[in-house]
Amino acid sequence: KLFPVILCGGSGTRLWPASRLDRPKQFLKLLGRYSSFQETLLRVADLATEQQIIIVTGASMIEFVREQAREIDVPIVILVEPEARDSAPAVAAAAAYIEAVDPDAVALMLAADHHIGEVELFRDAARLAAQAAAKGFIVTFGVRPSGPATGFGYIRPGAAIDAEGVFKVAAFVEKPDLELAKTYVADGYLWNSGNFAFKASTMLSELEAFEPSIADAARATVAKAQDAGAYLQLDAESFAQAAKKSLDYAVMERTQLAAVVPAIFSWSDLGAWDAIWGASPQDGHGNAAQGDVTLINCRGVLARSTAPFIGAIGVSDLMIVAEPDAVLVCRRDDAQAVKTLVDHLKANG
Ligand code: GDD
Ligand code: MG
Repeated sequence: KLFPVILCGGSGTRLWPASRLDRPKQFLKLLGRYSSFQETLLRVADLATEQQIIIVTGASMIEFVREQAREIDVPIVILVEPEARDSAPAVAAAAAYIEAVDPDAVALMLAADHHIGEVELFRDAARLAAQAAAKGFIVTFGVRPSGPATGFGYIRPGAAIDAEGVFKVAAFVEKPDLELAKTYVADGYLWNSGNFAFKASTMLSELEAFEPSIADAARATVAKAQDAGAYLQLDAESFAQAAKKSLDYAVMERTQLAAVVPAIFSWSDLGAWDAIWGASPQDGHGNAAQGDVTLINCRGVLARSTAPFIGAIGVSDLMIVAEPDAVLVCRRDDAQAVKTLVDHLKANG
């Protein structure tokens, strides 16, 4: 059995002004017809052997989740977290939910905020990963780094575990500093794409070993969950006992069971506007335009408007993002600094 699980937390600060606290980035239609949440659902809808795709999310996102799944007619079951405690407790709750159905079932856990170019290649990789997961591995998808970014996990592939291109993970390092990241890129490490395949029983027993509070909390929060009809409300008191940690630190850096499928599909975590620019269709001068936009003599520009007309002349490597109430103008190589701007806005009301 294969259960797709989509983790849908996070807000996406660096995609301001499109992304806001009450409008998280995974629900924004940044690359065309579908949001990244919808793209993720469509990517796995055919792979599911079960009726429904499991979504783990917070109360504030239930309506977005239901509405967007309905729009593309993909059946889902929603597990609602009482509070955000990072990804390990969320994954663990999904694993406990699946374990109650079948402990040997495989979970294919995906982030809701990624863009993958070639969906068929992804599905091939996911099938390989699911096979390795059924043998007891916790399988990652390794992406070739485009530079020494510090916001990712780094994976050193080890020995092959089968003939088809699945390798043991010799080392997993979450978010190294820049100096280390540079040596990892030079040494052929891969980025962790943030998607995983594992048996429910494997994940829970690794959590029992490394973070018992998370395994215990997950089983209790599912056992005491309230069926609210449209969703399953996880038990708050139990969930609160889970250590607040990401899966990468809680399990991936420590487990001996990690494996990696090197990914040949194009992948972007759509973290900031430069990534949106990179994943968007571009004209011959590297310009990506979305909405009511005219660019004259521009190069490498992302211009996106949901409201006023944007006209730009003779500028390069710039990002212009207009919403009804706010406009961002930012150099493309400063995309990460949008977070600083948002922090400033928060501090100043
Ligand atoms: N439901 C739920 N609850 N989901 C959560 C929570 C939570 O409390 N916290 C995080 N998530 C979800 C996010 O929505 C996202 O889909 C996924 O878990 C990963 O969380 P991020 O916060 O985006 O992690 P990251 O980007 O810093 O790092 C992870 O992803 C990178 C690739 O994008 C790690 O796995 C890195 O190793 C990896 O390289
Ligand atoms: Mg992320």
